[in-house]
Amino acid sequence: MITLSRKIHFSSGHKYHNPNWSDQKNKDTFGSSYSEHGHGHNYTLEAEVTGPIDAETGMVMNLADLDAILTEVTDLLDHKFLNTDVEHFKSNMPTTENIVKFCYDHIINHLKNSPELKLHKVRLYESTDLWADYYG
Ligand code: NI
Repeated sequence: MITLSRKIHFSSGHKYHNPNWSDQKNKDTFGSSYSEHGHGHNYTLEAEVTGPIDAETGMVMNLADLDAILTEVTDLLDHKFLNTDVEHFKSNMPTTENIVKFCYDHIINHLKNSPELKLHKVRLYESTDLWADYYG
């Protein structure tokens, strides 16, 4: 089995805010990530797909197909304010952890028709020194 990895970039805004908490508890818990107008990140999404090498193409997966899936998911997030522009994040805090799971769930849905492929891991970098991995 071979693992093929691909990265794609997108930029989004967010803020951390639990509406069930007081302003003070939000500030105490989320610090600078809790600000009224939010802030932005340049995210990098990385998908790792494992499978056999196809004898006819020499590929685990056609890169154009993988790119189409990744672009579809990042189009949902790119240049959006996640808390209000993306339905899923109205009720799920747009943390790195929740965003990587959102991306994984979206990508794996598109791989269901390719049983020979396994989505090994999806990694989301919020910055060069912070990232989250999801293995499903
Ligand atoms: Ni942030």
